[in-house]
Amino acid sequence: MTALTLTNVNKSFGNVHVLKDISLEVDEGEFVVFVGPSGCGKSTLLRVIAGLEDASSGEINIGGQQVNLVPPSKRGIAMVFQSYALYPHLSVRGNMTLALKQEKQPKAVIEERVANASRMLNLEDYLDRYPSELSGGQRQRVAIGRAIVREPKLFLFDEPLSNLDAALRMNTRIEIANLHRALDASMIYVTHDQTEAMTLADKIVVLRDGRVEQIGSPMELYNNPANQFVAGFLGSPSMNFLPEGLLGEGQYTIGIRPEDLFLSDDGPLSAHVSHVEKLGGDTNVIAKIHGHAVTARLFGQHSISEGQELRFAYAEDKAYRFDTDGQRLR
Ligand SMILES: Nc1ncnc2c1ncn2[C@@H]1O[C@H](COP(=O)(O)OP(=O)(O)OP(=O)(O)O)[C@@H](O)[C@H]1O
Ligand SMILES: [Mg+2]
Repeated sequence: MTALTLTNVNKSFGNVHVLKDISLEVDEGEFVVFVGPSGCGKSTLLRVIAGLEDASSGEINIGGQQVNLVPPSKRGIAMVFQSYALYPHLSVRGNMTLALKQEKQPKAVIEERVANASRMLNLEDYLDRYPSELSGGQRQRVAIGRAIVREPKLFLFDEPLSNLDAALRMNTRIEIANLHRALDASMIYVTHDQTEAMTLADKIVVLRDGRVEQIGSPMELYNNPANQFVAGFLGSPSMNFLPEGLLGEGQYTIGIRPEDLFLSDDGPLSAHVSHVEKLGGDTNVIAKIHGHAVTARLFGQHSISEGQELRFAYAEDKAYRFDTDGQRLR
C-alpha cells in the first residue's frame, strides 16, 4: 500500500498559483525528500499534505483514505518544523506528552512512548528540563520526539536542521537516518541542502516554481537528469554548463560535472585559473574557459595556482547535452 498519493494537486493563494498539478506517491516505509529553490512551494506542499492548508483542487490520499476534508489531527501525520515551536513553559516531558494527553491516551501508554522516544533520541537525562535550558540540537530532538510519540503513519519534516551548525547538522542527519530505519515509518523531508537530499532519500522529488521537475532515486537523478535544471541543482560543486558553439557543438549546451574534468596537456579546453580551493582530499579549480567560469574537482592535492593556464579534457560519455529549452538530449 502507498503511504501517500497526490493526484493533480493545485494550490492557489488568491490569484497566485503556487502548486501546479502535483502528482506523486510515497511508498510505505519510504524516505522521500522534496528539494527545490526557495519559494518553489515545498512548505506549501507539506502544509497541504498535513491539512494546514486546503488544496484548491486534486486529491490527497493517505494510507488508502482520501483526506481532503479530514482535519490535520485526524490524518495520522506528525509534522516537525524548522522553528521547533516547543512550548517554553512545559518541560521536555510536558512537550512530548501534550498531544497524547489531548488524545486522552492512557497514562501507561504515554509513559511507555515517552520512554521509548527519549531513549531513541538520547533525551532521557533531559526530561525535566525546560526548552530554554537545552542546546539547539537538543531542542530539535525534542521536536522530533514530540512527533515520534504520536506514532504517525507519515512524518513530515520541514527543514528541521537548518538552524543547526554544520557539525550538528551532520550528526542529526545520521540520527534521522537511523531513526527512519528503527521506526520503519514513511517520511517526507523538505530541505534545500542537497547533501541532505542525496544522503537521506530513497526518492527525491525536485520541485521548481510549483511543479515537479523530476522524481527518482538520488543516483538516478544524479546520473540521468531529465533537464538542465535538475542537472544543475544536484551535485556540489554544480555541473558546469558551456554554451553552444564553444566546443564546435552547434545547438547544444554541454554539461560536465566538476569531477569529470581532468587535466590533460592536449585536452580541448584551455582554461585560465581564477581561484583554487585546496580541501586536502580534493582540489577545486575554478577557471575561465573562453570567459565562462567552470569548476574542476581534482582528486587529491595539486600545486596549481591562480593565473595559471591549464588544459582540461573530459570523457565523451560523461558529457550531457541540453537543448535551448534546457531539455536533455540523448
Ligand atoms: N499564505 C500565502 N499567501 C500568499 N502566498 C503564499 C502564502 N504562502 C506561501 N505563499 C507563496 O507561495 C510560494 C511558495 O512558498 P513556500 O513557503 O511553499 O516555498 P518554499 O519552497 O518552502 O521556500 P523556502 O525554501 O524559502 O522555505 C512563495 O512564492 C510564497 O510567497
Ligand atoms: Mg519552506
